[in-house]
Amino acid sequence: MPTRAVASEFDQISPEYDATRSPLDPETTIGLAHALRDRGVRRVLEVGVGTGRIAGPLADLGFEVTGLDASRGMLAVARAKGIQRLVRGSAYRLPFRDRSFDATLFVHVLHVLDDPPSALYEADRVGREGAFALVHPGVPRGTDPASNELDEGRRAVYRALAREGIPPPARRGGPRERERLLLDLLPPDELIVLRDREVTEPLARHLAMFERRASRHVLKVPPATLARAIESARSELGDRTFTSRRVEALATWSRRRRGAAVGSLREPMVHDVR
Ligand SMILES: C[S@@+](CC[C@H](N)C(=O)[O-])C[C@H]1O[C@@H](n2cnc3c(N)ncnc32)[C@H](O)[C@@H]1O
Repeated sequence: MPTRAVASEFDQISPEYDATRSPLDPETTIGLAHALRDRGVRRVLEVGVGTGRIAGPLADLGFEVTGLDASRGMLAVARAKGIQRLVRGSAYRLPFRDRSFDATLFVHVLHVLDDPPSALYEADRVGREGAFALVHPGVPRGTDPASNELDEGRRAVYRALAREGIPPPARRGGPRERERLLLDLLPPDELIVLRDREVTEPLARHLAMFERRASRHVLKVPPATLARAIESARSELGDRTFTSRRVEALATWSRRRRGAAVGSLREPMVHDVR
């Protein structure tokens, strides 16, 4: 999807974005700050800064954070929170000179990009230490059966939508799966675990988040149809709970370690935000 179209989707959900996402866990934020400081990073460009959910806490911890985003709506929310260094632009063509920052950071962004390798190439160009991303690396297949159950909530909604004649979204797999595919494609130099814990939650909670988030593809489903599908999934799943292991880590594609640009893999395609 072109950057402009993604920006327009985020414009639509920007007013409710913060209310439908959990704030970054303080333990994760502190771990992230330590990992950045250990690598000599103080000036950060956060690509896909959104509403400043991460840029704000990082700035409070003494980092000089510049946020870039394609969505005017998301930037407006960030600005209203007092975040000052904000730029509208595309992750594929950053309006900064080479090595303008100590590092570039992506948080929950790579999975929404059509061409993450190109964005990493650009990020690597402007970050002296390279490009970093907060990711959710998978645990070995088969050791986390609950991760399939997480998908079960989403699958139950898709089944109900299919009964209404609405096909499942073309883009299969959730954000985590897409992120893991990228980590396989472009293995980071380091994966620094910031948090690793087991969480038990009712599937109904997952459905409630799904409902409130009005996920990108679901935005195109008439609200009444979506409400029926979610209700149907809710009665199908009942009070089932799931326990899953959640790992948050900082992936680094470090210039210093690599001795070459991330993009030595290939030249970036040109994507424009205008
Ligand atoms: C899921 S949000 C994450 C926002 C923030 N990092 C967070 O974790 O709360 C993804 C953000 O990336 C932005 N985005 C998506 N594609 C982009 C692109 N090609 N260039 C710049 N920003 C982009 C969206 O506008 C959105 O604000």
